[in-house]
Amino acid sequence: MPGKADVVVVANRLPVDISVDAKGKLSWDRAPGGLVTALAPVMRARKGAWVGWSGKPDLDVDAFDADGMHLVPVELSATEVEDYYEGFSNGTLWPLYHDVIVNPEFHRAWWNAYDAVNRRFAEAAANAAAKGATVWVHDYQLQLVPALLRKLRPDVTIGWFNHIPFPPVEIFSQLPWRERVLDGLLGADLLGFQRSWDAENFLRSVRRLTSEKVRGSRVTVEARSKLPARETKVGVYPISIDTQSFQELAASEEVGKRALEIRAELGNPDVLLLGVDRLDYTKGIRHRLKIFGELLRDGLVKAPEVCMVQVASPSRERVEQYKTLRDEVEVTVGRINGDYSALGRAPVHYLHQTFPMEEMAALYRAADVMLVTSLRDGMNLVAKEFVAAQVDLDGVLVLSEFTGAADDLPQALVMNPHDIEGAKRVVMRAIEMPKAEKRRRMRALRRRVARDDVAAWADRFFDDLAAAKKEHRD
Ligand code: G6P
Repeated sequence: MPGKADVVVVANRLPVDISVDAKGKLSWDRAPGGLVTALAPVMRARKGAWVGWSGKPDLDVDAFDADGMHLVPVELSATEVEDYYEGFSNGTLWPLYHDVIVNPEFHRAWWNAYDAVNRRFAEAAANAAAKGATVWVHDYQLQLVPALLRKLRPDVTIGWFNHIPFPPVEIFSQLPWRERVLDGLLGADLLGFQRSWDAENFLRSVRRLTSEKVRGSRVTVEARSKLPARETKVGVYPISIDTQSFQELAASEEVGKRALEIRAELGNPDVLLLGVDRLDYTKGIRHRLKIFGELLRDGLVKAPEVCMVQVASPSRERVEQYKTLRDEVEVTVGRINGDYSALGRAPVHYLHQTFPMEEMAALYRAADVMLVTSLRDGMNLVAKEFVAAQVDLDGVLVLSEFTGAADDLPQALVMNPHDIEGAKRVVMRAIEMPKAEKRRRMRALRRRVARDDVAAWADRFFDDLAAAKKEHRD
């Protein structure tokens, strides 16, 4: 029996944080994030449902309505959290899709859990979708859902968007279940990627590892198990932020005041460098610390006149490589501070915490130079948030070329985080940049982020999906 929703979003996580009190009473808070902000209006206007996991193991919650959306929780057992989420998603696919910065692990039990959980998500989506509905599946955790869903519901139109990079075929080929993953994705009508490299990598994998025909950005998928032959389109859709509301927040009087307060709390440094990341090995936090440490060592900058704030929000803390990274980062911060602190004045202020958006906006405004040094990053929305927060046009963005954002923000100072000498020169250039150049670059960056916001991103994807639906029908 088809469900009621004309639009269904399927993502690993629900857009709310659910909590259950001692009496078993359930409550929820909207989880912050651009994706839900972008999709909420469409979901409200078109009877939308959102299928996702609550983020907690063994939490059995019935579907409920929140914020004008129908939320459909998918339950994961504690073992599934270990094998599907921490294991296959974040111990196999995440490092494999991010240039094998750490070694991906391949375990059959993890794959089996990934397969089983993807089936559960596909079934939940199939039950929620009305006849002829549009279903938008998100990210690397759910790559098998498109084909599984098509089998259950050949009447729906299916899109999938990858928020992270797609690796070159030489790396992707390591995956023992590579054909199954490609087959899963090719169940979609439209596959979206962040950068053209990602789309090209995907198409090359299809050409090399399957027998399907690729013509330009289209794959003809042969008829199989009662389903007729059809086409999957591949496109590039760089994601963005809710620029206007972020700008308004940053421009508010409270945030402006808080930004001044932050600088005062840090002893009014001449230059404040800022890093903001999930504590993840893809973000190049160790490279960033090395760069700053060497600038101090070489006497090119002096502490505490030049200091750095590094926000590293806790992430995937039960995954082994994340524990190791935390230890390495914290040893490095300790060394730099040991070598260059004065009493009460440290060069690196390290915050292993999560802050509300208001505090982040104030930090962005307080900073002189933002350091985004990812070794590989699908997009990096922090870079775009920093730009949106520069209402005074006086911040400089240093941006790794290995981020999707580097394609969208060409007026940033683009650098290679592996080239420590080159990166040190770029950071010095950012620190010493004349005011007029800062303003010119920031103005151009802000124009782009204002135009290409997350609503424009979602509209383009939905429009292309509607076009695919029309072709499908014709
Ligand atoms: C990346 C992924 C998202 C994921 C987020 C946070 O941005 O693309 O799918 O939700 O990281 O990671 P977590 O494992 O906490 O969901």
